[in-house]
Amino acid sequence: MKLLITGGAGFIGSNFVQYMLKNYPEYEVVNLDALTYAGNLENLKKLENSQNYTFVKGDITDRATVDALFQKENFDAVVNFAAESHVDRSINEPDVFVSTNIMGTQVLLDVAKKYNTQKYVQVSTDEVYGSLDTDGSFTENSPIAPNSPYSASKASADLLVRSYYKTYNFPVNITRCSNNYGAYQFPEKLIPLMINNVREGREIPIYGDGQNVRDWIYVEDHSRALDRVLHDGKPGEIYNIGSNNEHSNLDMAKMLLNLMDAPESLITFVPDRKGHDFRYAIDASKISTELGWEPGYSFETGLQETVDWYRNNQDWLNHVVSGDYREYYSAYYSK
Ligand code: NAD
Ligand code: DAU
Repeated sequence: MKLLITGGAGFIGSNFVQYMLKNYPEYEVVNLDALTYAGNLENLKKLENSQNYTFVKGDITDRATVDALFQKENFDAVVNFAAESHVDRSINEPDVFVSTNIMGTQVLLDVAKKYNTQKYVQVSTDEVYGSLDTDGSFTENSPIAPNSPYSASKASADLLVRSYYKTYNFPVNITRCSNNYGAYQFPEKLIPLMINNVREGREIPIYGDGQNVRDWIYVEDHSRALDRVLHDGKPGEIYNIGSNNEHSNLDMAKMLLNLMDAPESLITFVPDRKGHDFRYAIDASKISTELGWEPGYSFETGLQETVDWYRNNQDWLNHVVSGDYREYYSAYYSK
């Protein structure tokens, strides 16, 4: 199979690129990534000499680049990770979220359809469903009710993807996964931000009262689920992905501090995120029943491995922290 992976230099995309090349050594993988602040080729260092892997620097909103790549490579399938992914950034700067997440998806859909690509997988998010109260969980039939510019842009993209199936019978799937954690996550997201702050002896900023709940999944379990959808997902279907791992942000901070032998006094409550979704929880029974996927990692194992990875890969973290992340961090938290 010749596979186009977009956004493969980011956190989840780079995990998926490596997962696919490891598990399907006969496949050819092309990674198209614009290398925004979140794209980091150090995530893919191990593949530098790999024969069946190619990196192409390019923007999914650039139709000429995308068209030329499809014409040259004749892809069998596309998995689209490329996106602006951080909710807080979308609150301050929504424009690029509309451009990449919506317009970029439309360019990919159009070009993939033009070249008769056999499968298009859109990597979406549980945030398109909005926010839950203390009970219940999102199913694939839950209403779309996004609350941030990020989730609104992802929901818009999902609707475009759906329309290409309904209108053109183009073979798409949409996946909606909960909060990922693991190695190589950019330290603007809660878990790596906390790990990095402990490392630097800084406080842990918790939004509001810390009672907001997220449903955590280890990144490799997400990659395994996408593998199932890529190979066996039924055209036009949506699959939720999650591993029944709900924790409030405050509990998560305490668990992490405990694992890192750091004091809870580092926790500092800061003003809440605007429009902060209270709770996410995924019902993943469809992908389990129809495609036989189950999460493989317990939360304890996943979190310990994540902490160990950041401890053992301080160079990676140093390189990231010395970039524009720092400018963003001070601008954001000095408000
Ligand atoms: P990330 O921010 O770490 O990586 C995004 C990647 O996309 C980067 O490599 C970046 O350079 C690239 N990119 C951005 N704009 C681009 C453009 N215009 N053209 C080409 N490449 C571009 O994101 P992530 O956390 O790895 O998320 C990947 C995907 O998974 C996103 O679509 C996100 O919405 C979705 N998702 C993320 C999570 C999560 O918890 N992180 C959960 C569910 C779904
Ligand atoms: O649910 C899937 C989504 O998970 C993905 O679609 C997004 O791309 C991904 O960024 C993530 O979104 P969240 O907003 O849930 O993740 P984040 O790590 O930014 O925040 C997790 C929770 O922690 C959220 O309730 C906000 C809170 N938080 C976050 C930061 C960065 C804090 O309390 N303090 C912080 O400093």
